[in-house]
Amino acid sequence: MTIFASLRGAALAALAVVCAAALSPASAQAPAAPAPVRSEAAPAFSAPANERIPPAFTGTYQSPTQRPDVGLMANDTELLRALLPTRGQVTIPDQKLATLIQPAGRDWRETIKGPIRVWGSWLILGMCCVLIAFYLLRGKIMIDSGMSGRTIERFNPFERFIHWMTAGSFVVLALSGLNITYGRYVLLPLLGPEAFTSLSIAFKYAHNYLAFPFMLGVLLMLVTWIRFNIPSKVDLQWIAVGGGLFSKGVHPPADKFNAGQKVIFWSVVAGGVALSVTGVWLMFPFYFGDVASMQLMQVIHAIVSLILIAVVIAHIYIGSIGMEQAFDAMSTGQVDENWAKEHHGIWLAKVKGTPMPKMGHD
Ligand code: HEM
Repeated sequence: MTIFASLRGAALAALAVVCAAALSPASAQAPAAPAPVRSEAAPAFSAPANERIPPAFTGTYQSPTQRPDVGLMANDTELLRALLPTRGQVTIPDQKLATLIQPAGRDWRETIKGPIRVWGSWLILGMCCVLIAFYLLRGKIMIDSGMSGRTIERFNPFERFIHWMTAGSFVVLALSGLNITYGRYVLLPLLGPEAFTSLSIAFKYAHNYLAFPFMLGVLLMLVTWIRFNIPSKVDLQWIAVGGGLFSKGVHPPADKFNAGQKVIFWSVVAGGVALSVTGVWLMFPFYFGDVASMQLMQVIHAIVSLILIAVVIAHIYIGSIGMEQAFDAMSTGQVDENWAKEHHGIWLAKVKGTPMPKMGHD
């Protein structure tokens, strides 16, 4: 243990020597290295506010045992921080490659490996548990007045096309994205290295290419459905009785989309835009910004996608096994009039030109 510790210490000291040599005036005078040594931009993840980061060492190392003249180094982390920013010199046009150490990378890696992974898994598993409990307690939400036998068109073919294009691409993007975050813990032990590698490569291509139909789908959804998703006073009444989801016979009036669906719609739009911007930023490395900006975009991409996946799981539940007839609205486009009366009374009255439902429970 002590031998390993001293070997590690020696390796870090040697690294420090290399870095310091790269920064030394001697190397700055090297004939083929005209690029000036300049400080790196402030990292996205800096040290805690109460931690003082010593200035970068600019002197010349004489021996591996000599440490930078910035006080006593308590540990390796402190030593690495003391070397910030650590840039050498390159004679090729791509000056990014002169960065020897990007200390913010460690903070970024710890954020992804720690809080985001842990909280993300709690969020998604928590949502699944809530839905299972809801199903066990409430069961499938049925049409209280039974089927009338008369149907009405709820979504036209174009609306269904954009829904399924967005939904299909999102599901693959979600699964392939989750594989990036959790695959090595969940699938690698189950599939073994070869199958996991093949799957991950296929997922990687799918993730890159299906981003485009997803982005297009979100845009088309926004344009097609925004007029039905403007918040209104009717939504307050719907929210006040929990949408009637928790008790039989309670049917607050709603237009084409109720308050719950408006929340889904705006989550998909806001989340979709955030995922698109951050995703495209990452898809073209260094095109839009430096490595610090890419780390920030990656963190936003991970957090937004985990939240949106949890929201969409709830949506998939209510749009399939959670509610009678809901799936028909998006598959055949037709729903029973009694379903429409109970769940979207205002919309039905508008389409059929019949009197508006009372602002009561039915
Ligand atoms: C893959 C399984 C999915 C199923 C079974 C499903 C089912 C449904 C159904 C039945 C509706 C119509 C509800 C109604 O008639 O009032 C609907 C609407 C909608 N879906 Fe999906 N959907 C799925 C995935 C998705 C995904 C992945 C997204 C977006 C990322 C999405 C976004 C929407 C939006 C914005 C609406 C309109 C608002 C709403 O009804 O909540 N859906 N979906």
